[in-house]
Formats: sequence, C-alpha cells, structure tokens
Amino acid sequence: MDYSIESSALDKLESECLILGIYENCKLSQSAEQVDQTTDKLISAIIERGDIQGKQGETLLINFIPNSTIKRILLVGFGQQDKITRKRYKKASASAINTLNAGKISSAHSALLDIPVIDADPQWKTRLQIEVFNDGLYQYQHTKTKDVKENDLKKITVLCAEDDSAAAETGLNQGVAIGQAMDLTKKLADLPGNICTPNYLAKQAEKIAEQFSALSAEILEESDMEALGMGSLLSVSRGSRQPAKLINLTYQGADENTQPIILVGKGLTFDAGGISLKPGAGMDEMKYDMCGGATVLGVLQAVAQMQLPLNIIGLVPSSENMPDGDANKPGDILTSMSGLTIEVLNTDAEGRLILCDTLTYAKKYNPEVIIDMATLTGACLVALGRVPSGLLGNDDALCDELIEAGDSACDSVWRLPLWDEYQDQLKSNFADMANIGGRDAGTITAACFLSRFTEDLRWAHLDIAGTAWRTGNNKGATGRPVPLLCQYLITRADA
Ligand code: BES
Ligand code: MN
Ligand code: ZN
Repeated sequence: MDYSIESSALDKLESECLILGIYENCKLSQSAEQVDQTTDKLISAIIERGDIQGKQGETLLINFIPNSTIKRILLVGFGQQDKITRKRYKKASASAINTLNAGKISSAHSALLDIPVIDADPQWKTRLQIEVFNDGLYQYQHTKTKDVKENDLKKITVLCAEDDSAAAETGLNQGVAIGQAMDLTKKLADLPGNICTPNYLAKQAEKIAEQFSALSAEILEESDMEALGMGSLLSVSRGSRQPAKLINLTYQGADENTQPIILVGKGLTFDAGGISLKPGAGMDEMKYDMCGGATVLGVLQAVAQMQLPLNIIGLVPSSENMPDGDANKPGDILTSMSGLTIEVLNTDAEGRLILCDTLTYAKKYNPEVIIDMATLTGACLVALGRVPSGLLGNDDALCDELIEAGDSACDSVWRLPLWDEYQDQLKSNFADMANIGGRDAGTITAACFLSRFTEDLRWAHLDIAGTAWRTGNNKGATGRPVPLLCQYLITRADA
C-alpha cells in the first residue's frame, strides 16, 4: 500500500474516489460542503433522497459524479458534530475502508482531516487514519492457495491544509510504521503453530534486525538458558519437541549510557496446556499464545522505523506447552533463575513460568522500566471481555502513562489492583510459591506471581488474552497492543 499526504485544493482535485464526512441530520462537513458546491449540489440531492443521514459509521458510495474530475464520492457518517471522540473517529474510518475495499477502486483521497475530533490534532488524525485503513486492508494469505484476491486499493492520499502539512507528515510516518508493525504482529500471530515455532519467531527477529542498523538480534538457546539457571522456563519446553528460544531484539536509538526500556512478550507458539491438558473445543486458538511476543517484535520494528531517540530491549521467551512423558507434572517443583522455587499445581499456567525467568534475566540491563505483555489468563476475558487489555503493575506513574497512551491510541487498558492481600493465594506447602492462585481473581494472582520477580523494578504487566485476537467467524489477530506501546514510546521520546 502506498500512503501519502497532499495539500491540494478540492476544486482541482483529480480522484478515483474522495472520502468525505457528514454529520448527523445530514449536515455536511466543510469539505463535503465545498464539493457539493462544485458538483451542482449533487451531494445534497442524494442526501435528500434519505439514503444516508450521517449517523456514526454509516457509509454511502456515490459512484458517478457528472462533469467532475472526482469520479466517486464516499460519504462517511460521524454522528453528532460536537461529540466526535477519538474512538468514534476510528470506528467511522474503519467503516470507510470496509466500504471502499468492497468496491473496485484502486486509489482514494481522504478529506477526513476536517472532522473535529475531541482532543485530537491533524497529526493524530492522519496517523489514525493510516493505521485504521491499513488494518482494514490486512489479508492473511500465507497458507491459502484459493480465494485469495489482492486488494484493488493500492494508494490512499490524506488531504491536509497547507498549514498542517508538517504535522500530517509526522502522523503519516508514524501511521505507516505502526501499520506495518501491526501487519507483522498479525501475520506472525495468525500463522499456525506448525509453522510459527519458537525457531521461526527467532528467525523473524533476526530478519527484522537485518533491516535496520540500530537493531540487533541475539538468540539464547536452551544450553544458554541452562547455564543461566532458567529452570522455570526450561521446564515448559522440556515437554515439547521444539527447542525453546529466548529472543533478544535490541534497539539502540540513544546514547549507550541511557537506561533501556524493556518490553517482554510471551511467545508460547502453542499452548495445549501440557499434562493439565486443555479441553478440545477452541484449542486451535492457542496458536495465539505468542501474541505478546509478536507484539514486541512489531513494536521494535516500528521504533526502528520511526528512529525514536530511546534504547529499547525486546525480550521474547518462546516455547510450546505440550503433554509429553518429560513434561511438567502437577506437583513438580522448579527452581527459577532468581532462586525462588515454584510448585507447579497446574501445567497450563505456563506463561508465568517462562516469563518469570525472562524478568529475572532482564535485571542485568538495569532497565528504566519494564513492561510485559502476555495472553496470560482466560480470567481476564471473564473480567474485562474483549474491550480493554488488563493492566497491573507496581508503579502508579508508569501505569498512568500506559492508560493515557491507550486512550490516545484507541487501544485501551483497564487497571486491576495488585494488592498484597491477593499474594496469599499463591501460598504453597512445598515451595516458595505455587504457580496458580485458585479460582478467584485469576488475572490478579497471575500478576502477583510475576510481581515476585520484579520487586526492585518499575514494572507493568498487560494481560492481552481478550484483546490480541478475535474469535468466531471473523477469527484473526488484531495487532493489539502495538498501537498502545508505540504511543507510549512516542510520548517518552517527545518528553
Ligand atoms: N494461554 C492461556 C491463557 C488464555 C486462555 C488466553 C484462553 C486466552 C484464552 C494460559 O496459559 C492459561 O492456560 N492460563 C490458565 C491459567 C490457570 C490454569 C490458572 C487459564 O487461564 O485457564
Ligand atoms: Mn496455559
Ligand atoms: Zn498460555
């Protein structure tokens, strides 16, 4: 896809399709008003027929414009003009791309920068449009031989006022970087477990690193983990024929003495549950148990592309969790890299087992902050559904920054308490802690477990079990929380 910005006047515009906004009660946006004048009130005439009212997310394609260099017009409804939130703008932009992509249109211009969005500037609007358009055009085709049709749409130009072109340019670059990162994250996530193995993920990290001089990849093998004493991580991969990998994708964009921000992503390429085997229904979706890891790789790529002046280390512990004669058994006791012992009461609570050794490993880099993301608990779906990701952490300022970034990027998070009272649920009679905390508050007790390995760090944890992919007919990866993390890092870089 080719994305660009342009500050050309509407009356001279040549376009295959021009995207224009309208508000509730058929009120035209400024650009739509202008085009209405130059097209002999065509838009007004069509609206009078009642085909579109301007409600949030409504679209109407007018595919013939007499005597005009604009061949088609796509009207998009934004609802009440003074109530357009960032989320509503995003939703309407998503409807626009869906309608556009359904037709045989090869290029389009968007005049949606003139829509007034609460708490948003032209840079944000440009970036968001690119992100949403690109998301709508994503197609998984890697393992399909039939029914794959290339998108007709090849080029989208966002129209901006002369005065806004610098801001729009920045928004464009960010949007393209974030969009491509989401493409990468979604593709890795959608790939099946027999292709996207720990080794495959490691190879991808190396490929990404080759493309940018500021990125470097290092892969720790099981022998390296053994030497480091990662007994917890290794216990999970012992039950799998695929050797575990600990991927380190490092970006150096600042002075080497600048403390790094560390991102850790769960890279479980298939979670069968191990000896505590999962039920069969829907188990295919456990190929998505590496979405945290795929997010980390995507974010590192975006950061390198945006050349942010930060140092960032991405760590992805990657393994399968399978039943096997050599797999973890309920009751087994592990010694983690930190020295703390863990009683495995349920082998399906494996994410925390691979993450805890990675968090301990991360300490050697003396991080400024550390953020982990993981499809960690089904309980997160019960608590929050598929709308926000769960957020827990030991640092209020960091959590507030992540909440703010999530709101801004329309990739929201909701904080759950990480109070000491919950820690009791992890008591074990035979080890320093158990790996599960019982039925209650599963998302919180999972975070409690991780908190024992991050005590002297500024740390936040994102539980993305409900947000990283969609289930049902439209099953597929969402690319979340790439936008949230990119926003957080952009804000950090600006500060
Ligand atoms: N990867 C799963 C969590 C998960 C389950 C995410 C369903 C999305 C949908 C994780 O490894 C797991 O199995 N967690 C267990 C923990 C339990 C045994 C304490 C769970 O959530 O059931
Ligand atoms: Mn599991
Ligand atoms: Zn898992």
